[in-house]
Amino acid sequence: MCGIVAYNGTKEALPFLIKGLKRLEYRGYDSAGVALQNKNGPLKVFKKQGKVAELEKLLAISDGKGTKGIAHTRWATHGKPNDVNAHPHASGNHNLSLVHNGIIENYAALKLALQKLGHQFESDTDTEVLIHLIEEVQTKDNLSLIDAVRIALTKVIGAYAIVVMDVNEPDILVAARKSSPLVIGIGTNEFIVASDATPIIEYTKKVVYLTDDQLAVITKDDLQLISYENKEIPLSVQELDMELERIEKGGFDHFMKKEIHEQPVTVRDSMSGRINASEGWARLGGLEDHINRIINVNRITFLGCGTSWHSALIGEYLIEELARVSVEVEYASEFRYRKPVIAEGDIVMAISQSGETADTMAALKSAKEAGAFTYGIVNVVGSSIARLADAGSYIHAGPEIGVASTKAFTGQVCILSIFALQLAHRKGTISEPRFRELLVALEQIPRKIQQILELDDKIRFIAGELKDATNALYLGRGKNFPVALEGALKLKEISYIHAEGYPAAEMKHGPIALIDENMPIVLVATNKDAYEKIVSNVQEVKARGGKVIAIVNEGETAITEIADFSIQIPETDDIFSPLLSVIPLQLLSYHIAVMRGCDVDQPRNLAKSVTVE
Ligand code: G6P
Repeated sequence: MCGIVAYNGTKEALPFLIKGLKRLEYRGYDSAGVALQNKNGPLKVFKKQGKVAELEKLLAISDGKGTKGIAHTRWATHGKPNDVNAHPHASGNHNLSLVHNGIIENYAALKLALQKLGHQFESDTDTEVLIHLIEEVQTKDNLSLIDAVRIALTKVIGAYAIVVMDVNEPDILVAARKSSPLVIGIGTNEFIVASDATPIIEYTKKVVYLTDDQLAVITKDDLQLISYENKEIPLSVQELDMELERIEKGGFDHFMKKEIHEQPVTVRDSMSGRINASEGWARLGGLEDHINRIINVNRITFLGCGTSWHSALIGEYLIEELARVSVEVEYASEFRYRKPVIAEGDIVMAISQSGETADTMAALKSAKEAGAFTYGIVNVVGSSIARLADAGSYIHAGPEIGVASTKAFTGQVCILSIFALQLAHRKGTISEPRFRELLVALEQIPRKIQQILELDDKIRFIAGELKDATNALYLGRGKNFPVALEGALKLKEISYIHAEGYPAAEMKHGPIALIDENMPIVLVATNKDAYEKIVSNVQEVKARGGKVIAIVNEGETAITEIADFSIQIPETDDIFSPLLSVIPLQLLSYHIAVMRGCDVDQPRNLAKSVTVE
């Protein structure tokens, strides 16, 4: 995905655009650019491969004046990251400039048709095709920018959020979206358009979320929405529920570190008003409203990608064990392209931090079309998946900026825990004393996460011992198997060390061949089920010279004695062990990445949310 910011107002646009791009850099950071215009002046375009900082260097020696502008930070899909492929893209006559997030699926056919009409292209991008298409529609019938964009978009297949400017219409910006988010902040004599609210929050809390197939026409003192059929659409102005501090680093070196340390608060927030151990209840509003339907289902299907898929795997353990409902966990991308059996009334749940992941969104849509009842577990309020699902629960973790997901993971697992408890209680598959015992255990999780965070120095020391590894194996059993997968993903994402997660017992069926003194094994062994078996697994590793780093419960001795390093963490009920055991793994990968000099918050080739399929 990419990040878009645009400004139209009375002040200089550039500071708004650059600050906004920096806030959106987590969405993509392989090239960046701006286009600016002063009233009746020329269109000035600056583009640079690399991060926003590189663009800033170019702007420091350029004339970046203008009270209207569009800007973009890119995560490459069509065409290599370089200056030419960076946005904004210009029309052939250089009158129009466009920034775009998404993919134009029929770009090849459009490009061919435009080439036949004499259009020549400089870049390899689908975006350049779109701006040439708008130009073609505009010049052919001498149309206004608004009409040209409106009509051109009816010829486009794909996903997009765009903002366009026209040197001949210096007062307006035109924005539009389909399946890709755009928010418009309403200031005093100024408007800021962005891919999410983070570039806006500092200036205004009044926003309009653009919805699919809507066009926004933005002057410095007016905002109008129209449909592609040219009908006016009433504005629905909303108040942003976001604080500036939550999107700044707040004294931490990296967002990832800040977000790891926020977890005692974010996990508490995700439980707040949803469980009460002393009164003995667990209640997600989204589930309660549809409890009669959900209570009777035979199967729940989870969809997710990346870290969210790992949370779904934990959800499978929780729901099957507590509520005795069969659960299937699917990679959203795979679900979509095979022929899954979805019956009318099945429950399909999408898990997504951003609520914008294209594969998850498309898979949920196809499940909905097949008659499933859809549920979303999402962090970003008002996101596409949140709006698409029939019901759902927000995790309330606040903005997650670090590309490697941390607090969203624990928030998701927390919601899944409450979901499982509530469903089990209503179905009667859990006894009242056990239900209450688990509520107490869940309420204690934030305090225990805090205790684990206090082990940071010890974990940093262990990180120093692992930082030069080229491979690592993460092992866990039961609910800690998905945690092993998540620990391995964190390591490879941000430190570029190849790592794999395995169920500990599967080690014998392949990975054991890799074990020698150069292969560190991170063992997650805080759950008591199959504990004796895990002890044997450690012995098997040690017998082959492997280095073992074990995550165990406080007071544990058998593994601690044989492991090279052990991290002892507070004990909780086995059901909730992933909420604690993942924390040291997050810290471990963070410290290793810092020691290796990696860009923790913006690892190479990754994007926070992948809005292309
Ligand atoms: C990207 C991110 C991951 C994330 C995954 C799913 O790959 O880098 O951190 O887990 O997308 O994103 P979602 O927003 O749907 O949870």
